[in-house]
Amino acid sequence: MTVTPPVTPSVPLPSTPSVPPSTPRSAAPEGRHADPASNRDPATLRADLADHGYLADATTATVASLALALGRPILAEGPPGTGKTQLATSLAEVTGRRLLRLQCHEELDEARTSYEWDYGRQMLATQLVRPQLDATLGGLGADELFEATADLERFFFSDRFLVERPLLAAVRATEPVLLLVDEVDRSDESFEALLLEVLGEQQITIPELGTLTARQPIVAVITSNDSRELSDALRRRCLRLGFSYPDADREAEIIDAQVPGVAEALRRSVVGFLAELRGLGLRKPPGISESIDWARALLVVHADRLEADVVRSTMGIIVKHAADETLLLSHLDRLVAAST
Ligand SMILES: Nc1ncnc2c1ncn2[C@@H]1O[C@H](COP(=O)(O)OP(=O)(O)O)[C@@H](O)[C@H]1O
Ligand SMILES: [Mg+2]
Repeated sequence: MTVTPPVTPSVPLPSTPSVPPSTPRSAAPEGRHADPASNRDPATLRADLADHGYLADATTATVASLALALGRPILAEGPPGTGKTQLATSLAEVTGRRLLRLQCHEELDEARTSYEWDYGRQMLATQLVRPQLDATLGGLGADELFEATADLERFFFSDRFLVERPLLAAVRATEPVLLLVDEVDRSDESFEALLLEVLGEQQITIPELGTLTARQPIVAVITSNDSRELSDALRRRCLRLGFSYPDADREAEIIDAQVPGVAEALRRSVVGFLAELRGLGLRKPPGISESIDWARALLVVHADRLEADVVRSTMGIIVKHAADETLLLSHLDRLVAAST
């Protein structure tokens, strides 16, 4: 990290907290020794995730364990509602890492992803010191004036006025963090380039401060719902982890863990019904959150088994579009029969 020289103002300015000391570029982490404390083998990680309510399959646990050990980002790809975001939050919890979350959307810019200067506070500070500055600067010669201007610039573009966003926070973190870049497919390609600098080079360049290099490998989970193709460069950096709907046993286990009190038979019916429903080619197939919500709703209405009437009155929880509702209703009897 390049750091500006210490500020010795020739104009009377409050003392400025300096940017934290740099990690020399040559000592930059190269993807090993991410954080030994948070590393664990796949089986242990899987058990720890389960203790925190996240039921991972063996592949997910292995990829997550490797990502921690190798300091490589995970690219979690798959349909909505299959546990991608939850993996990141549960992984942060389990490993004691602070979660830094960046929700992607179109027109993400540096100010929202990396940093921005606090213009309002800079203006306020300008107004507060102006009378003193006028008095001091008025008596200076040209050389001194240039020096004073440089001091002022360093003061106004220092840590004091820097607002940290998730990417910069991940680079500057001194404690273990986990960066979640959620739904990266919603952002545009210019953001991917920025993300690559952070994940590939493990650094961020701020023109006024120089290049800041991460002190520790950045552990990251990037999620994508596959709404657009991602660049090969980004894919190359990551360990890819494909998500799909869980198999019947795991989905039943997830429901059991999240909604205790649903009888085994009803749980099986819910899982069977949803698996069939997902096979109908809905516009928005129900994800795991919908299975959990539906199980919870069935408890509330005291349903002890799936019947056409119960499904009809609660289907707003599992289908979210009129066309999907029509499709469900046209297959209702078959779906109910198949699920019992
Ligand atoms: N493996 C899992 N174990 C426990 N709960 C899960 C699991 N996968 C998903 N869920 C539940 O489903 C919800 C939706 O998952 P989420 O991670 O938001 O999906 P995605 O990010 O893929 O759209 C989560 O809030 C969580 O409650
Ligand atoms: Mg998500």
